[in-house]
Amino acid sequence: MLFLFNEIRNWFESSTFGLSLLDLVTRNIFYKKYIYYLFRKKVELNQINKKYGFTIEVTSFCNAKCTFCPNSKMKRHKEIMSMKVFLKTIERIKLEGIDPTYFNLGPNGEPLIDKQLFKKIRILYKNFPKVNIFFPTNLSLATPKLQVKLVNSKLDNICVSLNANNAKDYKSIMNLDFKTTTRNLNNLIKLRNKSKSKLKIYLKLAANPVNKRTINSFINKWKDKVDGIGVSWIHSWAGSMANGNGSNRQIPRYPCRTLFDQINIQTNGNIPLCCVDMEGDIIGGNVMNNKILSSINSLKIKRIKELHATGKIERINKCSQCRFCERGLYWLVK
Ligand SMILES: C[S@@+](CC[C@H](N)C(=O)[O-])C[C@H]1O[C@@H](n2cnc3c(N)ncnc32)[C@H](O)[C@@H]1O
Ligand code: SF4
Ligand code: SF4
Repeated sequence: MLFLFNEIRNWFESSTFGLSLLDLVTRNIFYKKYIYYLFRKKVELNQINKKYGFTIEVTSFCNAKCTFCPNSKMKRHKEIMSMKVFLKTIERIKLEGIDPTYFNLGPNGEPLIDKQLFKKIRILYKNFPKVNIFFPTNLSLATPKLQVKLVNSKLDNICVSLNANNAKDYKSIMNLDFKTTTRNLNNLIKLRNKSKSKLKIYLKLAANPVNKRTINSFINKWKDKVDGIGVSWIHSWAGSMANGNGSNRQIPRYPCRTLFDQINIQTNGNIPLCCVDMEGDIIGGNVMNNKILSSINSLKIKRIKELHATGKIERINKCSQCRFCERGLYWLVK
């Protein structure tokens, strides 16, 4: 279902006509009513069942300098999440009876930099054996030894953020070496195919002015080798980066699914508004001192959630510039 949704989204995201059509549909009053109905139902269920996805920022360091990512200019202190913060997070999830739906270990930074990454994955799996564990990675640091670890780990999937179809674009977008990364990727695919590993390998292309002409060739080159490809136009990190498409059309906004469905833990234990709040400008609490559920319902964050629920998103500076609350499509996915 999610795969099909992504395929359809890929098409819309890479077509100006598709986007205009979407805007027309998502302004419709019946669509609006339906999305708000889904939103209320889902949020109510989440609160009753305490079901939330988690991003755990195992590290905020990165070896790349992607032009569309604020990581290299981030002012917040960069570090690796200590075992103390990591274990406290798990302890709180269990004590508070939260039912995690997934763990994404790479909302920011490059997870493969963390020397304790595989230990953290093992601990997560031991505590939550049925929950999806995954991370996005640029894969540039995946040495043969790490490739074996990836294939033998309890990860469900990795999403390789390749973002380019040739060395020149890759260098200018990510400032990394294309040959190294594609060699790592091809070896990882071979290793995975040879073993009985359940690891799924996805590819991601963050479409931008540099790579936009190569999107189709990118898809054709990799589609039979990997388990899925996601293409989405770069977002502006809630206005903190140029959005790259030069558009300033008024796009219909709906409550942000990420805000209501996902809990984010930064390296120091801080719980920010959302994964887009990379600097941690709006913090609800910290796992070392506060309950997770109280943090995501702290006064500051509750106020923002109310503005989303009542359709006053333009009053929130960050959200009014953010792609994640555009068009409400995510509420259509289960
Ligand atoms: C912030 S990165 C962290 C994990 C890892 N360093 C990586 O690049 O996969 C997580 C994902 O965000 C994507 N990303 C970063 N900035 C983006 C932007 N402005 N628009 C769309 N995707 C973006 C990356 O391509 C990657 O897939
Ligand atoms: S997108 Fe990922 S690889 Fe690129 S700079 Fe950001 S954190 Fe690093
Ligand atoms: S819409 Fe607001 S809450 Fe949602 S991801 Fe963007 S900045 Fe965060």
